[in-house]
Amino acid sequence: MKSLKKAKIAIIGGTGFETLFKGAEQLYVGTPYGIPPPISVKKIDGKNVAFLPRHGLEHSTPPHRINYRANVYALHELGVERIIGVNAVGAINHKFKPADLVMPHDFVDFTKLRCTTFYDEAPVTHVDVSQPYCPEIRKILVETVKKLGLRVWDKAVLVCTEGPRFETPAEIEMFRRLGCDIVGMTGVPEVVLARELEMCYASLCYVSNMAAGIQERLTALEVSKICQQIMPKIEQILIETIRVLPTPREGKCPCANALRDARFK
Ligand code: HPA
Repeated sequence: MKSLKKAKIAIIGGTGFETLFKGAEQLYVGTPYGIPPPISVKKIDGKNVAFLPRHGLEHSTPPHRINYRANVYALHELGVERIIGVNAVGAINHKFKPADLVMPHDFVDFTKLRCTTFYDEAPVTHVDVSQPYCPEIRKILVETVKKLGLRVWDKAVLVCTEGPRFETPAEIEMFRRLGCDIVGMTGVPEVVLARELEMCYASLCYVSNMAAGIQERLTALEVSKICQQIMPKIEQILIETIRVLPTPREGKCPCANALRDARFK
């Protein structure tokens, strides 16, 4: 049997990023949770990097039907330690504008129907998400974006909704009053599942629209238009970040030992 190709770093791409590693070798990885979309592996600066399109190669899986557990588990099987997720979001904070880059530091979970844990049975496991996004990857991402002369909002609370519909204006107003800055449909449980397997995770978000009630109406088309516009910048940021990211990781973040104090015995 052919052994699986290994990678320490992975990118999980969202809307518009399905073909990021076009032409690279594709891996079909089975997991106890099902089969994720094909994972491509490519060398960047001498490092094997895995790429997983979370909606599938043809963008055929809606946010609420994504098999988040299969996706994250498969990357873990490949030896991945650090994940950068790329997510389209709507802006709730009026200071943020379409095409802006945002790096959330915290999230609020308003999903409803998703499997949000690998630990459904004993041992009972409660992972700490006091710092849900890896501070080390966040720092390097922010520095990289600035080095490239681009602007990034380096603190933001992301609210994750179930979708696939967009939110109502009343929901967005409620999220604004709760202190949320951006809204998306795919950030959770991806970030939590990565932490449960002691993988580092950070999310690079791009604003595709102002959230419902702030602009007149929302369309899926504008999400893909902004994505096309911003994709070359994001690719550049990812490549530069991967160059700088230490591998193996140094383990100074809360992610690497997330299970150490998560169990009663
Ligand atoms: N709401 C939820 N998810 C999104 C949005 C939005 O306004 N824009 C892009 N993804």
